[in-house]
Amino acid sequence: MLNDDSSILVTGGAGFIGSHFVLDWFTSMGTPLVNLDKLTYAGNLRNLEAVAGRPGYTFVRGDIRDRDLVGRLLVEHKPRAIVHLAAESHVDRSLVGPGEFLDTNVHGTFVMLEAARGYWQGLDEADRARFRFLHVSTDEVFGSLKPGDAPFEETFAFRPNSPYAASKAASDLIVRAWHKSYGLPTIVTNCSNNYGPLQFPEKLLPLVLDKAIHGEPLPIYGDGLQVRDWLYVGDHATALRVALERGQPGQTYNIGGWNEQTNLDTVTMLCALLDEFLPESPHRPHAKLMKSVTDRPGHDRRYAINATKAERELGWRPAETFATGLRKTVRWYLDNQAWVEEVTSGAYRAWMETNYAGR
Ligand code: NAD
Ligand code: TYD
Repeated sequence: MLNDDSSILVTGGAGFIGSHFVLDWFTSMGTPLVNLDKLTYAGNLRNLEAVAGRPGYTFVRGDIRDRDLVGRLLVEHKPRAIVHLAAESHVDRSLVGPGEFLDTNVHGTFVMLEAARGYWQGLDEADRARFRFLHVSTDEVFGSLKPGDAPFEETFAFRPNSPYAASKAASDLIVRAWHKSYGLPTIVTNCSNNYGPLQFPEKLLPLVLDKAIHGEPLPIYGDGLQVRDWLYVGDHATALRVALERGQPGQTYNIGGWNEQTNLDTVTMLCALLDEFLPESPHRPHAKLMKSVTDRPGHDRRYAINATKAERELGWRPAETFATGLRKTVRWYLDNQAWVEEVTSGAYRAWMETNYAGR
């Protein structure tokens, strides 16, 4: 019989958002959690050292595309829910190598759904009603907005523009079909750009932060007037936990920070914080390091999220403003340079060369 003390199975729990979700889970819930992660370049067990020895925490290194493994984990741990975060997540990498994105994000989600369906169909009626498959997705599935357009609502059509966004849109639609066709109790969340501690420095904020600390040019794609909505990762972890408990099967929820701004403004704020935290730095003012480089092909101009449904139906709203969240983030990176050095050794250097050398 599944109950509140039953375990949950998380995929991608060693990545950026997954780590925050797992850490938050043990702070707020403390019930058993199985973390299935392949540990690609983006997965890092160091993020999870605080829970590694906790009773109820199980880490399994493996691939979401391994149907037998996923099936075995479900039989063995009898989870009440799956929280599916594992994915290839970086747009620029998807432009260079889209195949891995389709394999992991589309086929991987299909394998997870099929394993979940097999397990779920074998449960008794009460447990079937209780089970949830929470699929974690992005606002990028909705494509790009023009300046005056209304922010994305859950009902908007999918218009993905990058291979990453297309792979996530495909996976969202497959999740939808598994609910409609088989009745699997799925929930989908579509979230805006996350930032915070533990983010791999290929994404804008940690990348620019790392370069600014070392006095290197800060690559701004094109005119830098692209708009993103930024959400502190801790708020996203809370939103996922709440969606799991209160979300209705078959529903999708937009998760956002109510915080739209241009990349130029975002990087300028970050540089100002570095000026404040590093008064002796020879690279002050850090904003002078900003440098326009060749734009990303197909670069989405604006994302904006209308997250009123999450507030109305889940009772969730972000706790951090961009000013408070960014301050915490910059402080964390300055205090955790060893973490940055560890994750930016080896393969990271090759990626920097691939993405930035010709710009
Ligand atoms: P991330 O790249 O930091 O982490 C992904 C994790 O998945 C890593 O730990 C990696 O090892 C694991 N993984 C990758 N392929 C796997 C496979 N085949 N089998 C098992 N594990 C595998 O990603 P993130 O930024 O933490 O994003 C997590 C999820 O949230 C993704 O689904 C992403 O699309 C979504 N999302 C991210 C953002 C964002 O701003 N980062 C915003 C909205 C939604
Ligand atoms: P990113 O963090 O890659 O997230 P996403 O593409 O999913 O929104 O990029 C955020 C924004 O910053 C996006 O408009 C692209 C831009 N960007 C730069 O200007 N320079 C960079 O070096 C990177 C990585 C991103």
